[in-house]
Amino acid sequence: MTRTHRIAPSILSADFARLGEEVRDVIAAGADWIHFDVMDNHYVPNLTFGPMVCEALRKHSVKADGTRVPIDVHLMVQPVDALAQAFAKAGADLISFHPDASAHVDRTLQLIKAAGCQAGLVFNPASPIEVLEWVIDKVDLVLVMSVNPGFGGQSFIDSALRKIERLRKVIDGSGRDIRLEVDGGIKTDNIRRVADAGADTFVAGSAIFGQKDYRGVIDAMRAQLAA
Ligand code: DX5
Ligand code: ZN
Repeated sequence: MTRTHRIAPSILSADFARLGEEVRDVIAAGADWIHFDVMDNHYVPNLTFGPMVCEALRKHSVKADGTRVPIDVHLMVQPVDALAQAFAKAGADLISFHPDASAHVDRTLQLIKAAGCQAGLVFNPASPIEVLEWVIDKVDLVLVMSVNPGFGGQSFIDSALRKIERLRKVIDGSGRDIRLEVDGGIKTDNIRRVADAGADTFVAGSAIFGQKDYRGVIDAMRAQLAA
């Protein structure tokens, strides 16, 4: 199944003093999703933003023609359930969490779906993927970490490519419509290699927000994907 590629800029690397403007600018530059990195200084050694900021950004996460741009919430938090429900109320479109952060992964997936959001599982660089086999009927998104969670601007961990290849086979074998997203160290010069391994959705924080010309970077990434 040929899948449309999606580019999801992570606002972790955006200017936190102008987040609404940054979201509008990166959407005007061609972003498909807005990747919203939630860190609780417990599951990861960093602290970012909560549901209220997601709610505030909801009205900015629209294209010029008014169509919504999905907010892709990545929960790096433990416990998960209450925050997942709060983000659903705050307007998140997709909510993904780390299975090792939930005592009951199937139940957490169920509550995200019941709240009307798409549900995802996030796998850290050293994490096994076998949990997916038992809940694949409740999963809309698999997020592969190609860096250790907690910070932007880190280098891509190559073993993620093998994990992506393996997950691509599992997803295709399931016949289900599941997006395979990669997160961490994605640049114009490696995005093609990551797509060739089987990913269809790409998080990029510092590669985009670290540049002045957001459209230039996003166009260059799309050119690599189309090559
Ligand atoms: C890290 C976050 C990533 C990060 C990506 O914990 O989950 O989304 O912001 O940033 P870059 O693209 O700079 O590696
Ligand atoms: Zn992320």
